[in-house]
Amino acid sequence: MFANVLEIARQLIRERVSSGETVIDATMGNGNDTVFLARLVEEEGKVIAYDIQEQALAKTRERLVQQELAERVELKLASHEEMALLDTQVAAVMFNLGYLPGSDKQVTTMAQSTIRAIQAGLELLRPGGMMTIMVYWGHPAGVQEKETVESFCQQLDQTKYLVLKYQYLNQKNSAPYLLAIERRA
Ligand SMILES: C[S@@+](CC[C@H](N)C(=O)[O-])C[C@H]1O[C@@H](n2cnc3c(N)ncnc32)[C@H](O)[C@@H]1O
Repeated sequence: MFANVLEIARQLIRERVSSGETVIDATMGNGNDTVFLARLVEEEGKVIAYDIQEQALAKTRERLVQQELAERVELKLASHEEMALLDTQVAAVMFNLGYLPGSDKQVTTMAQSTIRAIQAGLELLRPGGMMTIMVYWGHPAGVQEKETVESFCQQLDQTKYLVLKYQYLNQKNSAPYLLAIERRA
């Protein structure tokens, strides 16, 4: 069986991130990727995670504390565009677009702020670093967001970035797919 797209995203990140590096979870949600990244960078590494909903921070904090990972993670109640304020190189940035599962479906990532966050994240990526963008587009703002994000990715300078799209072509119901951007070494 082919792996699901979320597992492919993690595989791409795992192949490139080393222990002790700094990485970003741009859309914390329930903390699944935050926990994944915290394990990956190990004790000496650092994860910076963003979400605009207090509920996401509370859930993520609880999971990190339970798993004794909280010390290596900085949780920010802020829009991911604020990555532009960071002054550090990072090995990876993970985005999971859409809404927080089990919460208000009206609160979603939005095309223009997502683009600003992707731009900021690409500036921070170290050579050889990886950005993954899981595109969940089965909600009202999702179609516009996916079109905007794809157009943006298509015009990235190929001498600096390589962009791949992983998508199952025969899945129904607006199945999520993955965009992966590598900063060329
Ligand atoms: C699909 S969920 C993320 C799922 C998460 N990766 C997980 O493992 O559970 C998308 C999240 O993005 C958050 N979000 C929406 N707009 C945002 C923004 N401008 N900056 C940061 N997070 C945002 C939502 O609140 C929601 O929690």
